[in-house]
Amino acid sequence: MSGTDAPASRPGEVLQPRIRLDDGTIMPQLGLGVWRTPAGETADIVRHAVAAGYLAVDTAAIYGNEEGVGDGLSDRPDIHVTTKLWNDDQGYDATLRACDASLRKLRRETLDLYLIHWPKPAMGRFVETWKAMVALRQDGRVKSIGVSNFRAEDLDRIIGETGVVPAVNQIELHPYFQQHALRAYNEKHGIRTESWSPLGQGQVLADPAIGEIARKHGKTPAQVIIRWHLDSGLIVIPKSATPKRIDENIAVFDFALEAEDMRRIAGLDRPDGRIGPDPAAF
Ligand SMILES: NC(=O)c1ccc[n+]([C@@H]2O[C@H](COP(=O)([O-])OP(=O)(O)OC[C@H]3O[C@@H](n4cnc5c(N)ncnc54)[C@H](OP(=O)(O)O)[C@@H]3O)[C@@H](O)[C@H]2O)c1
Repeated sequence: MSGTDAPASRPGEVLQPRIRLDDGTIMPQLGLGVWRTPAGETADIVRHAVAAGYLAVDTAAIYGNEEGVGDGLSDRPDIHVTTKLWNDDQGYDATLRACDASLRKLRRETLDLYLIHWPKPAMGRFVETWKAMVALRQDGRVKSIGVSNFRAEDLDRIIGETGVVPAVNQIELHPYFQQHALRAYNEKHGIRTESWSPLGQGQVLADPAIGEIARKHGKTPAQVIIRWHLDSGLIVIPKSATPKRIDENIAVFDFALEAEDMRRIAGLDRPDGRIGPDPAAF
């Protein structure tokens, strides 16, 4: 699937790719993740990221820092915000209430993208939860709706029971865990794949092959990995709470990986490469 290159909309803004979702909305392909970013520091970190050129932020109710994101973006309603419905709030009415709570904390009237954080298949509530997400989009509180950590069988169920396809499926994805089967499913259904833990929570940065590719291009390992996600058509949300690294992670629009680099990184995929929880059990 191809991205869309939209012109920069503010003076000095870094020209960067946006992705057109199947529901017609446009989303920046690179954003800042804020899991484990301390609540009290989040506003300053988000302000720093926006000044550096970031156009999107990925948070979640469970991260406990939606207020910080809202503070940091109080004068930037144009920045794309994703948040996620926590597991305890699954269910039709609970989802509607949780969305309102997130909107209040984020100080927004509408959310750009709202995701069901985990399917929790054993709990058996993700279909009614998805129906509430559909209602939230219909009444305008949310522009785009999607899911996170959904497997093909979970997606089959929500699509089969509602006819509504999620715009995005945000899943663990990095060079050690490339998720080819689920990406193919997403693509076939017009669902954009978004990579969480894109740097493998830092664990992929020391890989020797990544290091060699980075030296060849005069870039850092993090920049090579982020470029790999972008060139693979994925939406990518690297997290850093360190200003220098936040700057580093967006300085990825001035080089391109070669076919040989892409092939080498493809070879890093591992059957046991998952770092986070398995959605079947979590
Ligand atoms: N939907 C889900 O279930 C789910 C699950 C996990 C994550 N996510 C989302 O995905 C985002 C990213 O994933 P993640 O936070 O797990 O991991 P990640 O982005 O793969 O890696 C973050 C780690 O790498 C370090 N780092 C970042 N840039 C670096 C650089 N240039 N050089 C060296 N180290 C660097 C960070 O350190 P410092 O911060 O100390 O700089 C941090 O320890 C999250 O923040 C969250 O928004 C979603």
